[in-house]
Amino acid sequence: MPPESQLKVLGPAVAGKDVLEIACGGGQSAVYLAQQGARVTAVDFSSEQLDHARTLAQSRNVKVRFVESNVEDLTILPDSGFDTAFSAYALGFVEDIRKTFGEIHRVLRPGGLFAFSWMSPIYAITKDGVLEFRRSYFDRSPIIFTEKGLTEVDFHRTYGGWHHALTDAGFVVVEILEPEPLPKENTYADIFPLEKIRMIPGTTIWRARKPRQLQL
Ligand SMILES: C[S@@+](CC[C@H](N)C(=O)[O-])C[C@H]1O[C@@H](n2cnc3c(N)ncnc32)[C@H](O)[C@@H]1O
Repeated sequence: MPPESQLKVLGPAVAGKDVLEIACGGGQSAVYLAQQGARVTAVDFSSEQLDHARTLAQSRNVKVRFVESNVEDLTILPDSGFDTAFSAYALGFVEDIRKTFGEIHRVLRPGGLFAFSWMSPIYAITKDGVLEFRRSYFDRSPIIFTEKGLTEVDFHRTYGGWHHALTDAGFVVVEILEPEPLPKENTYADIFPLEKIRMIPGTTIWRARKPRQLQL
């Protein structure tokens, strides 16, 4: 799909902003945003991923604060410390999404933006590579994949489920993006073949705000 320089999910400019990345993995996004002039803190619970992230930041000569923590509990971070929080392809792995959204809401300043991406709920119930359903949209049990002895657990949430979790945490949803693919095959073509993501959205991006004033 188009890159952040075109989508502008995090707004027109991040320079000078305090940005929090939730589940940063190898730190590619955190480093990119630091290169754009943001003050970035990035959290992940994998020390191996954080080692990669620190090495990447060093090699690009940028400063990022990396924090090892489960994103369900961000007590290590102060209240209202960030202008922007975001997460790329990670929150479907997080079991307690309500607690997580509550924590993200807490650490954002009033008026702050929270954006995240995950596989679109309709795409998640299709079989890999083909336009065929694997299960019911309404089945909220986790989707479990086993490959080469490893297990991946995706917590399936409907559009309404994600929306409820955001609004219950105090966010106002401002936009749902379903970017159409660029006209070329991508590096994840086994899961997101072009032919399929031309027909239904592979990814949903949610944009939400912490209101400036308490909403009653
Ligand atoms: C698919 S990777 C995405 C990484 C990065 N956001 C990116 O776009 O490349 C998912 C990441 O989520 C992290 N993760 C999953 N559950 C987590 C949790 N509860 N707390 C912290 N990190 C978590 C994993 O360690 C992994 O680095």
